[in-house]
Amino acid sequence: MAVLLNIAMLFPFIVKSAAESGVPKINPFHFSGELDVGMRASVQCAVIYGDPPFEFSWFKDGHKLIDNRGVSTRNIDDFTSNLVISKVEADSNGNYTCRASNSKGFDEKFATLSVKDDGTPKITPFHFPGELTVGMRTSVLCAVIYGHPPFDFTWLKDGHKLSEARSTSVKNIDDFTSNLVISKVDADSNGNYTCRASNSKGLDEKSALLSVKGKCISIFIL
Ligand SMILES: *[C@@H]1O[C@H](CO)[C@@H](O)[C@H](O)[C@H]1NC(C)=O
Ligand SMILES: *[C@@H]1O[C@H](CO)[C@@H](O)[C@H](O)[C@H]1NC(C)=O
Repeated sequence: MAVLLNIAMLFPFIVKSAAESGVPKINPFHFSGELDVGMRASVQCAVIYGDPPFEFSWFKDGHKLIDNRGVSTRNIDDFTSNLVISKVEADSNGNYTCRASNSKGFDEKFATLSVKDDGTPKITPFHFPGELTVGMRTSVLCAVIYGHPPFDFTWLKDGHKLSEARSTSVKNIDDFTSNLVISKVDADSNGNYTCRASNSKGLDEKSALLSVKGKCISIFIL
């Protein structure tokens, strides 16, 4: 009983001493919960206790944040540092930590940035093999890795809707994947092939160049 009483008496003293020790205290900060891809995100790390001067550093998921690609940090005054992400993307997601330190110690606070899932399709890049010669068969997959089905797939060649003529065919394998097959490539197969996936929210496109080996084309033409 006596021990409990002693702790209770000590407790206000401990709290008071922490606040007055000069160690920094950062005000909690939060990102907007309404961040869409392309929007601007900004948070302020404000020191509300402690003795200046302070040194501010920012971390993303434990790694020191470097000012680049639209991410910048700036000290507004002796007590405040500002983090700005000029255009958030899917890989902006993460935990952003601000650390303020002075000669007495430091404090850290973090906030989680989470870009709203807007449901727009995202396609993984695809490529044709580099070693295609006349008469070979080639096949690429256009796979949607993100977004809400149903999707409409369209294939284009050099910007024009692909005609399923001769050796060229397109087949949707499942709700998320479309397959382009050219059963026998020839000089006419050369070009820039684009897959477009769209849903009610928007669309994504990825393109790949098909280039039949030159030496073999001349053999074919001869
Ligand atoms: C962010 O922090 C929260 C809470 O500590 C944790 O659950 C989550 O896994 C962290 N996210 C990342 C990407 O580190
Ligand atoms: C292929 O076509 C796409 C879509 O039209 C275009 O954005 C891209 O620049 C083209 N690539 C090349 C190498 O021509």
